[in-house]
Amino acid sequence: ILRPFQFDWKSSKEFSKRHTKITIVGVGNVGMAIAQTILTQDLVDELVLVDTNANKLEGEKLDLQHAAAFLPRVQIQADTDFKITHHSDLCIITAGARQNPGESRLDLLQRNLNIFKSIVPTLVRESPECLLLVVSNPVDVLTYIAWKLSGFSPNRVFGSGTNLDSSRFRFLLADYLDVNAQEVQAYMVGEHGDSSVALWSSISVGGVPILSFVTNKSEEFEQQVLEKIRKKVVESAYEVIRLKGYTSWAIGYSVANLARSLLRDQRSIQPVSLLSKGFYGIGDDVEVFLSLPAMLGRSGVVSVAQIQLTDEEKNRLQNSAKTLWEIQQQLLI
Ligand code: NAD
Ligand code: LAC
Repeated sequence: ILRPFQFDWKSSKEFSKRHTKITIVGVGNVGMAIAQTILTQDLVDELVLVDTNANKLEGEKLDLQHAAAFLPRVQIQADTDFKITHHSDLCIITAGARQNPGESRLDLLQRNLNIFKSIVPTLVRESPECLLLVVSNPVDVLTYIAWKLSGFSPNRVFGSGTNLDSSRFRFLLADYLDVNAQEVQAYMVGEHGDSSVALWSSISVGGVPILSFVTNKSEEFEQQVLEKIRKKVVESAYEVIRLKGYTSWAIGYSVANLARSLLRDQRSIQPVSLLSKGFYGIGDDVEVFLSLPAMLGRSGVVSVAQIQLTDEEKNRLQNSAKTLWEIQQQLLI
């Protein structure tokens, strides 16, 4: 049906310098939400899925492949063997246990630490040049573990962290103010989880600092309202897990958006969990990963935004760092 025209064949890899490959480890709710969002973005040439559950893996691969007629062309591969991940540009780890209703993210640590010990060295062996993006929980401690196990420089290892919390924060603020969430710039920083810190001092709507925005709208935007929104952000995951058993769609969009910023060298500022020692008063000896707004590009974390924090925000961030540091010191990696 199609007659070959070009005789001087080269492999597509030689042809295109832009050949990009993403690996997702773990094809559960989160891994698949990320995979399907990435596929809609025309971001990669090759998408690789890895899991220990061979049947689920094959089923998910086929189900995605059957959407080929509606999507940009992507080679989708799946295997339980990590050899398939060879030469990935970006490896996203979503494998591991998730919270049961009522469990905290930190409750998952021991189970997921052992899984990371088997995954990370193998991934790194296959793709020594890749960027590593951790999503499994507790994401900050596991990103630290992934960093230690990988031997990579810290700009290449980061976690999705409070990227999702910030998105929830922006949604709730936008809902309260009745504006488009994309017009709201607001960050949650620190631990992804119960001690995350809302940066009130830097919220803006359409470029206007929030306090003047709400004054113009003659609304009372008091501390109590803001505190209620912060609490709601922290409770969001627990609520969704209680209602549907897990969270998936929002983290899928959040991570696909991070993947785009990284592989397309977008240099956008996004909160991600990164090695935070030395920033915002966190001691140089405190090797913890916490989320801070950072510029992301093809080499990973390019720089960290220097935001003016209030003393209270700084204290909360430093307390988060201390708590995680204490937990990490009890780990046998
Ligand atoms: P899930 O149970 O649906 O999927 C987990 C998958 O990991 C399963 O398919 C399982 O077979 C696989 N797996 C387990 N051990 C493995 C190994 N050694 N190698 C390869 N695959 C392995 O869970 P989920 O709902 O997809 O959640 C996954 C993780 O993501 C959890 O830790 C959850 O808490 C976390 N999560 C993080 C965020 C975030 O914002 N960082 C958001 C949602 C969920
Ligand atoms: C979240 C997961 C559970 O949705 O960390 O926040």
